[in-house]
Amino acid sequence: MIDLTRNLISREISNIFDNLHYKDINIDVNIPTQKGKGNLTTNVALVTFKDFQESVKNNLLDDNLINEIDYIKTPFDYADWLANKIRVRLLDVEYNSTKIFKNIEAATPGFINFYFTDEFLISKVNYLALNKLDLRLGESKKYVVEYSSPNIAKPFTIGHFRTTIIGNSIANLLETTGNEVYRDNHLGDWGTQFGKLIYAIKTWGNEDEIDKSERPVKDLVDLYIKFHDEVKENPDIEDEGRKWFALLESDDDEAKRLWKKCIDWSWKEFNEIYDKLDVHFTENNGRGYGESFFVPMVPDILEELEKNNLITESEGAKLVFFYDDDELPPLMIIKSDGSTLYSTRDLATDKFRLKKYGNDVTIINEVGGDQKLYFRQIFRIEEILGWYKPEQRLHIWHGLIRLKDGKMSTRRGNVVWLEDVLNETFKRTKEISSDLPDKDVWKIAIGALKWNDFKRKRQVDITFDWNEILNIKGNSGPYMQYTYVRGLGILNNAKSHFNLSENDIKKIEDVGLIELSEIEKELIHKLINYKGVIKEATNDFDLTIIATYLYELAQMFNKFYVEQKIIDDNIDLEIVKFRLNIILSVNKVIKNGLEILGIKVVDKM
Ligand code: ARG
Repeated sequence: MIDLTRNLISREISNIFDNLHYKDINIDVNIPTQKGKGNLTTNVALVTFKDFQESVKNNLLDDNLINEIDYIKTPFDYADWLANKIRVRLLDVEYNSTKIFKNIEAATPGFINFYFTDEFLISKVNYLALNKLDLRLGESKKYVVEYSSPNIAKPFTIGHFRTTIIGNSIANLLETTGNEVYRDNHLGDWGTQFGKLIYAIKTWGNEDEIDKSERPVKDLVDLYIKFHDEVKENPDIEDEGRKWFALLESDDDEAKRLWKKCIDWSWKEFNEIYDKLDVHFTENNGRGYGESFFVPMVPDILEELEKNNLITESEGAKLVFFYDDDELPPLMIIKSDGSTLYSTRDLATDKFRLKKYGNDVTIINEVGGDQKLYFRQIFRIEEILGWYKPEQRLHIWHGLIRLKDGKMSTRRGNVVWLEDVLNETFKRTKEISSDLPDKDVWKIAIGALKWNDFKRKRQVDITFDWNEILNIKGNSGPYMQYTYVRGLGILNNAKSHFNLSENDIKKIEDVGLIELSEIEKELIHKLINYKGVIKEATNDFDLTIIATYLYELAQMFNKFYVEQKIIDDNIDLEIVKFRLNIILSVNKVIKNGLEILGIKVVDKM
């Protein structure tokens, strides 16, 4: 419906422009976010004032126009003249026998603002209440969204938290807006560390105990740390680690067996985290393609790189130099001992994706900002090889989470495990909502964690702080969930008080009885803007835009709730129903927005 009104306006303006002999003007009609600028606004008068002066100067205008425009000296005069012309045409236009525009007027320095009639605003709310939200944005594209990508036998830390929730929500957003989305998890399940780990398990570990352990990854990490402690005393065991990795590479049964166990142990723990976070993947039976999957494809990649003269050998290692880009340092592709690297496996991954999803696919890697340079190197190689155009490869990065006392390090045992964070959040949430079932406490706890991330731009670095990450006051996940619960409460009370079904509520019969208050107009205007906000968020892959919008909506709703009577026998039932339609719509939007952010609503709080 909003597009209908926009089209109406731009068609009208473009007719006028034809008579003024302008060429190729892009007519933007927007939903203003500031108060007092109408329900729609356009800056075309500002944009075309020069064209207008040109047309006058070059005598392009008809005689009857010349007299009309005589008084125009400033962009505002010009906007005013345009507004008058548009007004004559549009003020009487109706949609479903409802007049659309109450007023169309110029505003300084040269905007034209459009105000909807109360009837039209009411019909919009009613439409929202009645219909499923349709947030498809027209053009549908194919995306692989890769996120989380933790490393096997390494802690799933608070560091991987951001990629996990941001990536998952970006995938949600792209899906909601009508795209074809594949969700991948690039598990770090290959590398020389597995040689060390296998040696450590065989030397100091106990497989049965790890099998039974609640925290198998923690046991593996302890073994890994032990290995590095021992190396200080006895450097020779580095060779043992190397030997085991060589065995793993040559498909040795015992090495393979233990490596596979490491993956299963880790996956068990990761899966619990994904369940709690309500994060999932679609590829490779829901596990994602780990790095190891791509190792057999490496020779092929090497051949292609060599054929394209991209490989330079140096001291036994193979590197790619970027001669046409001074900013990019060389990237190592094969180590001097012949083994593959993170980079080699990434190239193989992206070649595989090209074949699997088609060469029109766009690939998003949601990975921390510390890998920015690395991804530029990878993308550049893929562009040189003609695999992808630059706009098909996106590194969507986020700022890092730092500890107060520096960087996290697995080897030094200086990490914050995500599991501990989740459990602590649950515990603290339970303390203040002990009467709720655990499954709802989890929804609130996870909502608090995620919201605290989404409410600030993903590019910002975060210093880890319990109070900050668990904030449940003010602009917080629980505040949003509580607003929703409040809305549900009013709806339920009203239904029983007035003996109305949900369908009765949605049947508004006499619009004439309803007069809108300021807060109602504001709230409806905000609701109408939801799809625009989703579009903006999608263009920038920016979830904070959604969180900010939802928070403002909730604040408006709470103001509405305080100011307007709803369950009151002294007001007309039509008005009650209309206000309930507002609540239905607000709740629909809040629920939908939170769903995109991966946050669930609850019925009680
Ligand atoms: N496993 C890596 C890490 O923990 C992240 C992988 C990111 N994805 C990629 N395609 N390189 O840092």
